[in-house]
Amino acid sequence: MTSLGLSVHDVLTTTRSVRKRLDLDRPVDQALIEECLEYAVQAPTGSNRQGWRFVVVTDDDKRAALGDLYRKGWERYTTLGVSASALADGQAPERAAQQMRVMESAAYLAENMHRVPAMLIPCIRGRVDRASMGAASMMASIVPSTWSFMLGARDRGLGTCWTTIHLMFEEEAAEILGIPYGDWSQVALITIGHTLGTDFRPAVREGGAAAVTSWNGWD
Ligand SMILES: Cc1cc2nc3c(=O)[nH]c(=O)nc-3n(C[C@H](O)[C@H](O)[C@H](O)COP(=O)(O)O)c2cc1C
Repeated sequence: MTSLGLSVHDVLTTTRSVRKRLDLDRPVDQALIEECLEYAVQAPTGSNRQGWRFVVVTDDDKRAALGDLYRKGWERYTTLGVSASALADGQAPERAAQQMRVMESAAYLAENMHRVPAMLIPCIRGRVDRASMGAASMMASIVPSTWSFMLGARDRGLGTCWTTIHLMFEEEAAEILGIPYGDWSQVALITIGHTLGTDFRPAVREGGAAAVTSWNGWD
């Protein structure tokens, strides 16, 4: 197993959304992705259903097709008025600067999506739009496993980014990959590649956990 030997603390605090520091020219070994997927399938699922499927995409034509969809979604996202300045508007200077950096980095990823060496599409059985009360349970039966994959990737020198933009065209992506759209929901497109350098820092979260936590009730 290839491992950077990071502590649990480091993995949990430094697994960032990697976009600009992704090595777009270095392929990712299938074995590394398989190791991370073994973590993914250790995650909890509602009723122990394990109704998950993971579609890994490395094929040039399919990456190009997904890259096109993603860019189309990105254009729509930004024409809806989501921009760096809109996200930064009214925020404290440090937070505004962080939002500007995120948008700039996300634009870079959109431009280069077709070059991302590998993509992971986690899928869950069922359609979220039909699940009503079960929606939370359904999502929670695929999100932890995908995050486990991302944590495992971090410890192997791989960078990932959770993305959802391509879901604006989920049905078209399903066609590209042969995913049975009527029965399976895609929940994300996780970009995967080796990172340029392996040092990543904890993110700044204003006020830390204390700012968003209350004990024994809501206050
Ligand atoms: C549900 C969800 C959807 C996201 N969608 C996108 C996306 O489509 N494109 C993208 O570049 N980043 C996306 N992100 C990444 C966020 O921008 C990122 O998590 C956030 O800026 C915080 O950065 P960090 O993960 O490095 O702490 C998404 C994250 C989540 C959890």
